[in-house]
Amino acid sequence: MTHCIDFFEKQFQEQTARGDFALNPFEEAVLPHLSGGVLDLGCGLGNLAIAAARKGCAVSALDGSRTAVDRVNEAANRLGLPLAAYQVDLSAYAIDGDYDGIVAIGLLMFFPKARAHALLDDIVRHVKPGGIAALNVLTEGTSFVGALEPGNHYLFGENELSEPFKGWEILLSRHDAFPAPENTVKKFHTVVARRLA
Ligand SMILES: C[S@@+](CC[C@H](N)C(=O)[O-])C[C@H]1O[C@@H](n2cnc3c(N)ncnc32)[C@H](O)[C@@H]1O
Repeated sequence: MTHCIDFFEKQFQEQTARGDFALNPFEEAVLPHLSGGVLDLGCGLGNLAIAAARKGCAVSALDGSRTAVDRVNEAANRLGLPLAAYQVDLSAYAIDGDYDGIVAIGLLMFFPKARAHALLDDIVRHVKPGGIAALNVLTEGTSFVGALEPGNHYLFGENELSEPFKGWEILLSRHDAFPAPENTVKKFHTVVARRLA
C-alpha cells in the first residue's frame, strides 16, 4: 500500500465510523455536469459516484482503498444503484473503454509528474465526443504535506491542468485555497471541460 492510500484508508475508516459522507465542494461543483456512463478515478468514499448513480448515471468507480471500495459497493447494493467499485492501483492502470464523463478529483497529484500526465492524457483520450472530463489537483504553493509522499507526488502549475483541453468547451475552471493544519495551505485547480461533439 502506498503512503497516500494508507493515509486515506485511515481517514475513510474514521469518516465511515462517524457516518460522514458529505460531498466536498469539488464534487458539488462537478455533479451537475455528469450524465450517461461515468468513470470515477480515485472515487474515495464514493459520495460523488453514489450521487451520480442516484441521478441515473451508470458509474464505474476505482480506488486503491479497500474501505472506500467496500463502502461504495455496500451503498450501491443497498440502494439498487447502477454503480460498481473496484480496488485498483491507479499508478499502473490503463483506462478501458470510452465514457460520457471521466472524473478524477484529488488524484493526479499523488503520482510523479510523468505518471500524472500519462493518466491525464489517458483520460483525455477516453472521453466520448460531447462528454466531459472533470478534474481537480493540488497546485504549486501548497504547503500541506499530509498525504503527499516525498518523491512520489506532483504539484501542478497554476493553469497546467487546462492545457490538454485546448479546443474543448471549458465549463468550469476554478482556483481555490484552503487553510490546512499547522498554518499550511492547500491550493487547488478544478477543471470541467466538454469535448466538442
Ligand atoms: C483526496 S482523495 C479524493 C477522493 C474523492 N475523489 C473525493 O473527492 O473525496 C484521493 C483518493 O485517491 C486514492 N488514491 C491515491 N493514490 C491511488 C492509487 N495509486 N491507486 C488508487 N487510488 C489511489 C485514495 O485512496 C483516495 O481515495
